[in-house]
Amino acid sequence: MNYSKIAGTGSYLPNRVVTNSELQTRIDTSDEWIVSRTGIEARHIAAEGEKTTDLAEHAARAAMAAANVNADDIDLIIVATTTPDKVFPSTACLLQARLGVKQGAAFDVQAVCTGFVYALSIADKFVASGQHRCALVVGAEIFSRLLDWNDRRTCVLFGDGAGAVVLKASKEPGILSSHLYADGSMGHILQVDGGVSAGKLADNPYLQMDGAAVFRLATRVLHECATEALRHNGFTVEDLDWLVPHQANMRIINSTTDKLNLPRERVITTVAQHGNTSAASVPLALDTAVRDQRIKPGQLVLIEGVGGGMTWGSVLLRF
Ligand code: ACO
Repeated sequence: MNYSKIAGTGSYLPNRVVTNSELQTRIDTSDEWIVSRTGIEARHIAAEGEKTTDLAEHAARAAMAAANVNADDIDLIIVATTTPDKVFPSTACLLQARLGVKQGAAFDVQAVCTGFVYALSIADKFVASGQHRCALVVGAEIFSRLLDWNDRRTCVLFGDGAGAVVLKASKEPGILSSHLYADGSMGHILQVDGGVSAGKLADNPYLQMDGAAVFRLATRVLHECATEALRHNGFTVEDLDWLVPHQANMRIINSTTDKLNLPRERVITTVAQHGNTSAASVPLALDTAVRDQRIKPGQLVLIEGVGGGMTWGSVLLRF
């Protein structure tokens, strides 16, 4: 049997850090409110002129270096993003040109905060089938530009960043299964209403959210798809070395972890340092734990995400 396996990880956060203390000088909020409701302490914000492709390129180059591959090896690029530089070409095509990759396919995936989980699952199908040999899978976002910075209910939650993995064909087990879901009828609880299909940028360009409804859906579906991934592969929670969940909010992460009866020490969390970076959040957390050597070769790792759409899903893998 052929598998796809992660051969290297990388990530990037913009230099500018905006702390809760700085936010409380601008809007009616407090460090205490933000930390107690979300666990977020700071977020990184892209510089003026910095684009999603710039963030993606930093993360991609770091993952390629870790995997010891170069532009000639990559034959598939998938970028998960909600904040592409342009309507088209896709961010993946812009990234392909930047990296000097001349072969294979490149396309974007739009599943908001579940984007990286969707993209990794798609890349796995291409690589495990033998159609492609070496995929670059990136989650990159500049969510700060979708926010109304006067809306304290949303602007404190998000940040900018990018994460990437190189996925190679392998005889050894890597990705074991993926489980993807969507419920378009719930799209209204988290959305950016603006769009270009009216022939101009129409409607509200800022993110709107029913926070309580998102919280309820997220805690339900993250538990369901974690349980499903383990059961599908004949594992129990005891077999799991690490959970790498979408980094939206510590209360959502803790609720999911506790429902699974998973000790919190086996969960990778980075949300305090960068807030919710949407599609970048899972690969950012994964790269952090690979580089600090908590996640080691051979370990069983479950990643999962939930986001706008609404979309959600999980990928279980041997690292
Ligand atoms: N600072 C201070 N006060 C605030 C802030 C803020 N930044 N934001 C809201 N408040 C106020 C509200 O106005 C409200 O005041 P009121 O009672 O006078 O009207 C009060 O705090 C309580 O508001 P609630 O919305 O009830 O606060 P809650 O405890 O539910 O927490 C939160 C809100 C953190 C958004 C919560 O609902 C949540 O975590 N939801 C999930 C949202 C999420 O993570 N979204 C990310 C995108 S989706 C994803 O990635 C899965």
